[in-house]
Amino acid sequence: MVEYYFMDGKYVPAEEAVIPVRTHAFLYGTSVFEGIRAYFNKEENQLYVFRMKEHFERLTNSAKIMYMDPKYTVDEYMQITKEMLKKNEYKTDTYIRPEVYKSALKIGPGLIDNPDSILIFSFALGDYCNTEKGLNVCCSSWDRVEDNMIPPRAKISGAYANTALIITEAKKAGFDDAIVLSRNGHVAEGSAMNIFLLEGNTLVTTPTTSNILVGVTRNTVLEIAKDLGLEVQAREINRTELYIADGAFFCGTGAQIAPITKIDSRTYGNGVIPEKLKELQRYYFDIVRGKVEKYKKWCTPVYD
Ligand SMILES: Cc1ncc(COP(=O)(O)O)c(C=O)c1O
Repeated sequence: MVEYYFMDGKYVPAEEAVIPVRTHAFLYGTSVFEGIRAYFNKEENQLYVFRMKEHFERLTNSAKIMYMDPKYTVDEYMQITKEMLKKNEYKTDTYIRPEVYKSALKIGPGLIDNPDSILIFSFALGDYCNTEKGLNVCCSSWDRVEDNMIPPRAKISGAYANTALIITEAKKAGFDDAIVLSRNGHVAEGSAMNIFLLEGNTLVTTPTTSNILVGVTRNTVLEIAKDLGLEVQAREINRTELYIADGAFFCGTGAQIAPITKIDSRTYGNGVIPEKLKELQRYYFDIVRGKVEKYKKWCTPVYD
């Protein structure tokens, strides 16, 4: 079956969606993007795109920070994406990657006189991180890029060189992933996900000013945790707080909710994922598949 991507205003077969080697975004990392998931609900034979509106709102903000014109409204982006997924007839969990990118064929990193182009592609995707075993992670020796270096608030492809170094160092040292600190030594986030600690009955995450990508999943957790009787807090986190919490997890569109059982060789409890986190994870997986009425507003159906 032909898979369609959206490029330059039209749907094209995947193999035709190519960019010239001199494209600015390729040479200088000048694109902003999103990672969105759509979950297949077998009982309803329906594909639900999770929090698509919030993702396209963030894409628009990323574009603004990078002097880019996103060309479409959030509603138009949602329509285009829905149409593309429908054409691709997915009956499986799917990942969607929209990109707004600088498409001038020129040398020199400037953003002026440099047109913007739009590309959206998708493919079937399962887990990005193991969500069951409990991850063994470390604190990275790399610092997180700061808001006034390459702003993490914007999802800029060039900033993912920082992420690439963080994850690669961690994997080479035998860890599943890494937590990255800001230059002031405070916790920022995971390599490509946000982090929460469990402290008693409270979930604690870093604030939006801690050099993080302000995650859609982070926001989802902050909203839904209350339904399970958990308190939530967004505040600065010190490195050593990571070691003495009662548990921790990464969250993100890719990572979903991935519990951590070991940080820098310190194990939480006896290494077993706390029941409260398992419950939160189950609730999240039901929500994204459109099984919780209260949160169906976050799930856009693809098929009529
Ligand atoms: C650096 C970084 N932080 C956090 C996240 C989580 O964001 P979201 O929940 O919106 O996917 C991501 C996900 O792509 C990321 O790349």
